Amino acid sequence: MSDLLREAEAYIRELFAGEASGHDVWHTLRVCRLAARLARSEGADEDLCQLAALLHDADDAKLFPETAAEQRHARDFLSRHGLPQAEIDRICHIIAQVSFKGTDSVVPDSLEGKCVQDADRLDAIGAIGIARTFAFGGSRGRAIYEPGTQPRLHMDEKAYRAASGCTIHHFDEKLLLLRDMMNTPSARALAEGRHRVMEDFLSEFYAEWEGTR
Ligand code: ADP
Ligand code: NI
Repeated sequence: MSDLLREAEAYIRELFAGEASGHDVWHTLRVCRLAARLARSEGADEDLCQLAALLHDADDAKLFPETAAEQRHARDFLSRHGLPQAEIDRICHIIAQVSFKGTDSVVPDSLEGKCVQDADRLDAIGAIGIARTFAFGGSRGRAIYEPGTQPRLHMDEKAYRAASGCTIHHFDEKLLLLRDMMNTPSARALAEGRHRVMEDFLSEFYAEWEGTR
């Protein structure tokens, strides 16, 4: 398995070369590390979590719209490396359940899926989450804040994907919701600290915006 993990890492390094929207290869590598950590503390299959984590964004609809529906990158990689169809389906099933989809988000039906989803969501919050969010907004040419506009709450998947407001609203639309959506106790504990970092950041942001601090 460790050979396969190394191959998967080399594959995604190539796939994500040049990506700067916050869904870059470093995001995937952090998610892989966190997924392994969660797997160990939750008693999940560590190798399976790492493999699914390494491939979790390989067919992301924002980055690879042409392969997303059939998970073509992940499936081709795994079959090139000789995995049996049942294993490929199992890994792709985990990957398909990871993504945040607003009110259409799913709770993964395996412990490994729960660990990978939690790892992906932990990397969306805290200091790293703040940095990624503004990198994403910049990559789409969005303002950091537009006073007078409001976040859109309770969005389903379609509305969430179509959202195009200023970047600071992403905190209310997604990031501040994630702490309470963690599946595993280990991730929940990590999410607490990261959540506070975002709350502190937001109060500082608005105070500086108004010139009161
Ligand atoms: P998932 O990785 O669960 O599929 P997304 O791809 O929607 O979820 O979001 C991943 C990360 O991309 C977010 O945590 C955030 O950093 C960034 N991002 C996505 N949508 C936006 C947005 N509208 N504004 C700012 N950042 C965003
Ligand atoms: Ni991700």
